[in-house]
Formats: sequence, C-alpha cells, structure tokens
Amino acid sequence: MGSNLFYFNVLVLVFVVSCINQVWSQGVFDVKAFGAAFLNAWKQACRSGGTVLVADGTYLVNTIQFSGPCKGGVTFTVNAVIVAPKGKSTANYWISFHGITGLNIQGNGTFDGKGPSAWPYNNCHDASSCQPLSPTLVLTNVYQALVHNIRLVDSKGFQMKIEEGENVTINNITIKAPADSPNTDGIHTGNIKYVNILNSNIGTGDDCISIGPGTTNITITRVNCGPGHGISIGSIGLRSTDQNVKGVKVQSCKMRSTQNGVRIKTYTSPYQVSVSDVTFQDIIMDKAQNPIIIDQKYCGGSKRCKALFSTLQGTSNVQVKDVKFIGVRGTSSSEIAVNLDCSSSKPCQGIELDNINLSLASGGKATSSCSNARVSSSGTQNPPPCQNRMPLM
Ligand SMILES: *[C@@H]1O[C@H](CO)[C@@H](O)[C@H](O)[C@H]1NC(C)=O
Ligand SMILES: *[C@@H]1O[C@H](CO)[C@@H](O)[C@H](O)[C@H]1NC(C)=O
Ligand SMILES: *[C@@H]1O[C@H](CO)[C@@H](O)[C@H](O)[C@H]1NC(C)=O
Ligand SMILES: *[C@@H]1O[C@H](CO)[C@@H](O)[C@H](O)[C@H]1NC(C)=O
Ligand SMILES: *[C@@H]1O[C@H](CO)[C@@H](O)[C@H](O)[C@H]1NC(C)=O
Repeated sequence: MGSNLFYFNVLVLVFVVSCINQVWSQGVFDVKAFGAAFLNAWKQACRSGGTVLVADGTYLVNTIQFSGPCKGGVTFTVNAVIVAPKGKSTANYWISFHGITGLNIQGNGTFDGKGPSAWPYNNCHDASSCQPLSPTLVLTNVYQALVHNIRLVDSKGFQMKIEEGENVTINNITIKAPADSPNTDGIHTGNIKYVNILNSNIGTGDDCISIGPGTTNITITRVNCGPGHGISIGSIGLRSTDQNVKGVKVQSCKMRSTQNGVRIKTYTSPYQVSVSDVTFQDIIMDKAQNPIIIDQKYCGGSKRCKALFSTLQGTSNVQVKDVKFIGVRGTSSSEIAVNLDCSSSKPCQGIELDNINLSLASGGKATSSCSNARVSSSGTQNPPPCQNRMPLM
C-alpha cells in the first residue's frame, strides 16, 4: 500500500513536471498580454524557447531589436499588420533579429515600412556618400533560421537584409514596393553561408535579390521577380573588406518587366576579390531590359565613380569566373540581350552559355556583346554568341 502510494506520487510528479515542460517549450507569449510591449514578450519567449505571437490588428512599432542568445529556438508569429513610424529614418534597421540560433519567423501578417514618407529623403543615387534609409527586417548573426509566409511592403530602405550567420531559409514570402521606389532591394545577403530562398514573389524598385560580398552557398529557386532590377550578384569591390562570393545557384525563376534579368556587377575596384562558381539555370525573361549581364564597370553613376576610385577608371580587379547560364529564355526589351562587359585587367574566365533563347520583345533580332570574356557555348544560341574582344596579353 505504502509503496503503491509512493509510486502514484512519483507518477503524479513526473506528469506535472512534464506538463510544465510542455507549457515552457510551447509557451506562447501574446504581445497583447504584454500591453503591446514587444520586447517584454520577446524576453519571455527567448528565456523559455517559446513563441511571440502578434495575433491580429495593427501595431505601430518603433526601431526595435530582438536579440539572443535564447534558450532553444524561438518562434515569432505575425498575423497582424506591423507598421513603421512615418518619415525619414537612417537607423541600421527597423526590426532586427540578432545573435539567435534557431529562429522561426512566420505568419500571414505584414511588415509595412511606410516607405513613401521616407523615399524623398533618399540621396544615394547622386551623392558620393549617402546614408541609406532603414531596412525593414534585418537578421544578423542568426543561425538555423526559417522565415516564411510573411509579407514585406514599402520598406524605407532594403526590405530584408541577412548578414553574418548560417543556414537561413526564406520560403513563400511576398515582397512589394513600387518600381520607382529608390534602393528598396528585396533581399540582400552578405557574409553568410547556406542561404535558401524559394517559392517567393518579389516586386520592388531595386534588385529583387542582391547577393553581396561574402555570400557563399546560396540557392534561389522558384522566385518571381518584377518589377525590379532582377537577381544580382553585387555590387562587389566597393570596400577593401569585401569577401569572395562563391557557390551561387539561381534556378527556375521568372523575371517580369525587370531592368536586368540575371546580373553580376562589380565596381571599377582596386580590390582583389572574386565571384565564382555561379549557375543561372531555367530562367524565363519577360521583357527584361538586360536579360543576361555582367557589368564590371559599375559605380553607381559616373559622379560616384570618380569620387570613389579616382585613380582606377574603367578597370576592375574583381575576378569573375566559372559562371554558367543554362536555359535562359524569353524576351528582351533592349537589343543587347547578352552583355558580358568584363574587366580588361581581370577578364572573365569560364563563362558558359548553354541553350540560350532570347528574342527581342518588339520583334526582330537580339544581339550579344562581350568584352574581355572567355566564353564557351553549347545548344541553342539565340542571339548568336558574341564577337569577343580580349585584351592583348
Ligand atoms: C504561403 O503564404 C501565404 C500567406 O501567408 C499563405 O496563405 C499560404 O498558405 C502559404 N503557402 C504555403 C504552401 O505554406
Ligand atoms: C491569418 O492566420 C490566422 C491564424 O492562423 C487566421 O486566423 C487568419 O484568418 C489568417 N488571415 C488571413 C487573411 O488569411
Ligand atoms: C538548417 O536549419 C533548418 C531549420 O531552419 C534545420 O532544419 C536544418 O537541419 C539546418 N541545417 C543545417 C545544415 O544546419
Ligand atoms: C558550397 O559551395 C561550394 C562552391 O560552390 C561547393 O563546392 C560546395 O559543395 C557547397 N557546399 C554545400 C554544402 O552545398
Ligand atoms: C526559341 O523561342 C522561340 C520564341 O519563344 C520559340 O518559337 C522557339 O521554338 C525557341 N527555340 C528553341 C530552339 O527552343
């Protein structure tokens, strides 16, 4: 009898403890219960490996940082509309997640950066130095993260930035800003490895995705881009600290009315850095202005070029190599559908064109142009591969 009661008590104790653990690990901290104090809800969720829930309604949220380390993975569920304060902001982020291992950002909610109230203050197109407007969602030092289903609209600066971390997956998200909104890149990556972006719709005023210095092993699959400036690697070579870009795979994507399709852009830079092992495969262009482009004379306008690198006009020390364009097809809205404008001091190496079929949207023949590019081709080649100009070496 005594021993039965003992076992019963132990059983109850085990049951209660496991229930508490359950509540702990599945703890949901609704920001409503915290009087909309997001940071307090975050602290609880972070402490226990739980979920921050922003269930419904509209919340005005100021510049905020959710930081780790946390106990276990944390989920941030937004089914509401979160809006930024109106007007100019040049803070490094509007909403930041920093120093977290195991992060899940999800929900059918929207992050509205109130961009129209800030865009008139953007001065990054003419000035030799500028202060970028605040990006909406910034992940830094984040490991093992999944961002899915959310919507980002009208960021002041970039819509999303992912830097310094590892293994970040972005799935089924929607990003929207007008075609003429300045520097509203959809997703920008830098100094990060293992990034996966898939099944998403991105329309914006700048690059749909910009793959910045130090990005390695990034895969982009089934992304619809447009309006926007296409999917770009770059700009590379602006800073002496720029790291190599290596291992980029862009596949099964569609570009609609974009300025560029798939692009590599490097500054006329003195820095020895490289872009290598890149594949653009199964890409459909619908009236892209520059469907395939490597631009090694990029400097963001001639004024900026002069101000940046007064001694090195027109040549880039960024090495572009091993880049494949496979099954790129559809229409170009400008005559030069394939433009490989490489550096005379570091000609492009190992460029492959395989089954390219790009015609002029207005009818007539598209053309190719290359300089300083070693190109091989196979399969369909429309336009015909270009007459190459290589420097005398
Ligand atoms: C994608 O996200 C939308 C918006 O949140 C959601 O309604 C839809 O169910 C998601 N699709 C999948 C396959 O998860
Ligand atoms: C968003 O998700 C929540 C929770 O699943 C649901 O109650 C709500 O109806 C959804 N809203 C829309 C617009 O799909
Ligand atoms: C990457 O993160 C996901 C969760 O988002 C996880 O399931 C997966 O195991 C991680 N992969 C690696 C190689 O760490
Ligand atoms: C990362 O990229 C490099 C260079 O392209 C490649 O050799 C390597 O297999 C990739 N690693 C993984 C885990 O995908
Ligand atoms: C190239 O594209 C045109 C227009 O879409 C199409 O009619 C033609 O069959 C394609 N050629 C090849 C070889 O796929």
